[in-house]
Amino acid sequence: MLDNYPSDLGAFWMPFTANRQFKAKPRLLASAKDMHYTAADGHQVLDGTAGLWCVNAGHCREAITKAVQTKVAELDFAPTFQMGHPEAFELASRLAKLMPGPLNHVFFTNSGSESVDTALKIALAYHRLKGDGARTRLIGRERGYHGVGFGGLSVGGIANNRKHFGPLLPGVDHLPHTHNLEHNAFTRGEPEWGAHLADELERIVTLHDASTIAAVIVEPMAGSTGVLIPPKGYLQKLRSICDKYGILLIFDEVICGFGRLGTPFAVNYFGVQPDLVTTAKGITNGTIPMGAVFASDAIHDVFMNGPEGAIEFLHGYTYSGHPVATAAALATLDVYEAEGLLTRGAELAPYFEAAVHSLAGLPNVIDIRNIGLVAGIELASRPGAVGARAYEAFVKCFEAGLLIRTTGDIIALSPPLIIERHHIDTLVGQLADILKTVA
Ligand SMILES: Cc1ncc(COP(=O)(O)O)c(C=O)c1O
Repeated sequence: MLDNYPSDLGAFWMPFTANRQFKAKPRLLASAKDMHYTAADGHQVLDGTAGLWCVNAGHCREAITKAVQTKVAELDFAPTFQMGHPEAFELASRLAKLMPGPLNHVFFTNSGSESVDTALKIALAYHRLKGDGARTRLIGRERGYHGVGFGGLSVGGIANNRKHFGPLLPGVDHLPHTHNLEHNAFTRGEPEWGAHLADELERIVTLHDASTIAAVIVEPMAGSTGVLIPPKGYLQKLRSICDKYGILLIFDEVICGFGRLGTPFAVNYFGVQPDLVTTAKGITNGTIPMGAVFASDAIHDVFMNGPEGAIEFLHGYTYSGHPVATAAALATLDVYEAEGLLTRGAELAPYFEAAVHSLAGLPNVIDIRNIGLVAGIELASRPGAVGARAYEAFVKCFEAGLLIRTTGDIIALSPPLIIERHHIDTLVGQLADILKTVA
């Protein structure tokens, strides 16, 4: 047991946690290395979720840790409002080179939620600067997750996350989600059925008129809502409808970005070029909070037309481009590059796919879906107790030495991209053993 085991768990109001349930039987992590956590009681836990979809290069990588240690002792903080520090510019350039197409401008934030709110604000301000200020509507998607700021919540589509917080932003509409077990259960990769659901954007345009719509935001692969993989052709259709009506397309790549699908970004994977991309998580391997919004030349240039000396975009965070986060991100990019991690998922995907689909036929498994190094395993819900079955699996997995993530009754797997085949065998083997015990 840890020396510093907390004597009181009451004060920490934990995020997205059943606080009372957790505190009655806490699960504490003490340290981590590569593919494993060590829990407070000393047992090893295989990380099947890259922390929270962020530790893509595995835990406590020396190069990243050292870069952080060095930078914090050298430049603890530097303002980026009317000031700068060299590495923030270097990082933005490297990121812009990594991102395909004309997404050449990077606005730094500290989280996915901030990236989303930033992108929505860029979209609104862009139209206004172009003299198209009636374009204020934002279109999200049912079951979308775009963080917890009021902007992200408003375009997000998870009812439980939204219902406590009033009317949210006005003028928001939602596309239908694409999840359909009747047509797509047990699909490997992108489902064949469902591209037509993008045509719902035409209906929304007809309802509101294109002249009122600023942007559509979607996760190319929706992670937090339970691994919803876009049907073949769906994102391409969204792109062409947005083009037809002058609507900006935003990809929220907070999860997809930095190698999760086996390509650097979902933009590469699907070959669809959005106007704005939001990222966070894997940008620093989860080490230090950071996010980044990528904007196209066309969008950025519209901002750069005003009077010299005027601040072009009245937005930013105290910690935008924080030196320590910047150092962590640069070191993370070095590790990704040196180890080929941003494309490693593509090499491992067939093995991972075969392994997770071997869970078909286990009790209560009603769907398995996968793309890159992500899988969703959907369980039938217990009557009147949505989420209880997957939660039981989650707790049992942790006790047995495996970290999985659950949302409702969907188990999501998204291991660090350094995973080896034997880890995949252990992960899937342990999960299979547990699922056999969950009634
Ligand atoms: C697609 C997406 N957008 C935004 C967010 C919010 O990120 P954060 O929790 O860093 O604010 C998440 C978090 O999981 C996410 O998956």
